[in-house]
Amino acid sequence: MIKLRFVQSLLFFTAICFFIPKIAARGGHSDYIQPGDGNASFHGTARHLFAQEEKRPSVELTRGYMTNADLEKAMKDFTKRCSKISRLYSIGKSVNGFPLWVIEISDKPGEIEAEPAFKYIGNVHGDEPVGRELLLRLANWICDNYEKDPLAKLIVENVHLHILPSLNPDGFSVRRRNNANNVDLNRDFPDQFFLINEDLSLRQPETTAIMNWLREIRFTASATLHGGALVANFPWDGTEDKRKYYYGCPDDQTFRFLASLYSKSHRNMSFSIEFEDGITNGASWYPIYGGMQDWNYIHGGCFELTLEISDNKWPRASELPTIWEYNRKSMLNLVASLVKTGVHGRIFSLDQGKPLPGLVVVKGINYTVKAHQAYADYHRLLEPGKIYEVTASSPGYKPKTTTVWLGENAVTADFILIPEASYGGKLLRSSCDCSYGQPLLLTRFFTETNNGITFALVVVVAFLFFLLQRRVRSNLWKQRQSSRRSITV
Ligand SMILES: *[C@@H]1O[C@H](CO)[C@@H](O)[C@H](O)[C@H]1NC(C)=O
Ligand SMILES: *[C@@H]1O[C@H](CO)[C@@H](O)[C@H](O)[C@H]1NC(C)=O
Ligand SMILES: *[C@@H]1O[C@H](CO)[C@@H](O)[C@H](O)[C@H]1NC(C)=O
Ligand SMILES: [Zn+2]
Repeated sequence: MIKLRFVQSLLFFTAICFFIPKIAARGGHSDYIQPGDGNASFHGTARHLFAQEEKRPSVELTRGYMTNADLEKAMKDFTKRCSKISRLYSIGKSVNGFPLWVIEISDKPGEIEAEPAFKYIGNVHGDEPVGRELLLRLANWICDNYEKDPLAKLIVENVHLHILPSLNPDGFSVRRRNNANNVDLNRDFPDQFFLINEDLSLRQPETTAIMNWLREIRFTASATLHGGALVANFPWDGTEDKRKYYYGCPDDQTFRFLASLYSKSHRNMSFSIEFEDGITNGASWYPIYGGMQDWNYIHGGCFELTLEISDNKWPRASELPTIWEYNRKSMLNLVASLVKTGVHGRIFSLDQGKPLPGLVVVKGINYTVKAHQAYADYHRLLEPGKIYEVTASSPGYKPKTTTVWLGENAVTADFILIPEASYGGKLLRSSCDCSYGQPLLLTRFFTETNNGITFALVVVVAFLFFLLQRRVRSNLWKQRQSSRRSITV
């Protein structure tokens, strides 16, 4: 009888152990409202009623963590101490009026440059405070090391890094997941499949602040830091039919590369038993709707990862130094990947050499990257070790395509586009199907319109083209990395 009891308890205990990691993991990423369980989560107002309270962390656990006031002071102190490479600004206010402070780190903070921008966001969920602590450590580490550490130097010189340690200061102050209106901010974005969160009057100020931020700054990539699991999560987060399965976005390979970069640079994320290599497609783990990640990729032109950085959402503060050490290299490598990998360049017009805010597409990937409105620099993250056909276009100009073999390093590909009009006008229009490259075009042009004036024109254009290419090469694109291959198309 006693033996039976023992076996029973053992079974019970095993069952509990089996479930605990799952529950913990889901807590970080998912909701108490599950899309499959009903339609409550698909109504802006209804979700308030259904959001049950999780058990809050004890007040005692907050010891050693920065309060909101501490955080604000730490950020102000930081930008004073590191004023050469940083500035402080706010992207809006929380429901309770707390400023959503951001630190920008760059050798030219606040200036627009032909460089990619990265953003880190922490504390989207009020009861996941590890991210906000790590982000302050990251900023301070970069400031202390950018003159001696190559990676920190690379980031400061070539990237504009924006750090928002706490998106949800109101939730944090009461140790709760949701914001002050009891809304989960990571379910408050417009969704690609379901018409949720379309009502602007219901959108939370924290969410609105993020959406406006992306209109203002062109971010190439980003990551939000969550807790409750140890995994790097990538799009899509939701499926069309609400079921759970692997659902990759057009840039699945690139996202797998970025997520793996994080997990493999991490001390033990890639050793995960639950997640192969420490990465996961969001929908295959747990479909969510109205999340920030998918919205960033679809509407912000920004490749966003959701990083779950600690199984325990609210560990004791004494564990923070270890967690920081575990994540430091990952956090730096992810930002640096904006410079070290992918295809980058600028788009110019041949006629005046002016920057063109054109579009860049890669054959086989249904996604468009926009060049910057002012400087026409573009930054196309891509999985290394492959050959890509990259096309740049701009209205009124003939698109150009080039083949890029992307190795371990980034490639610079500048495009000089020829205006449609300067194509030889009427004479050529009929014989041009507008898909030839430059050399072929010139030969055709020459043979088909064999007269002196046109010939002179061709020579002049070719010469101008040559000059412009040289100018572009030498002046316009700052060649910062000797390892980076460079082509002009
Ligand atoms: C969705 O809501 C409707 C009306 O409120 C209800 O009849 C229906 O059963 C709900 N669906 C699910 C899956 O709960
Ligand atoms: C990683 O290390 C932390 C801290 O030592 C530990 O709690 C966690 O279980 C480890 N995770 C894996 C997947 O090894
Ligand atoms: C490409 O993506 C867009 C949405 O961004 C979609 O409307 C379109 O159907 C897709 N095209 C192809 C060929 O899949
Ligand atoms: Zn979270």
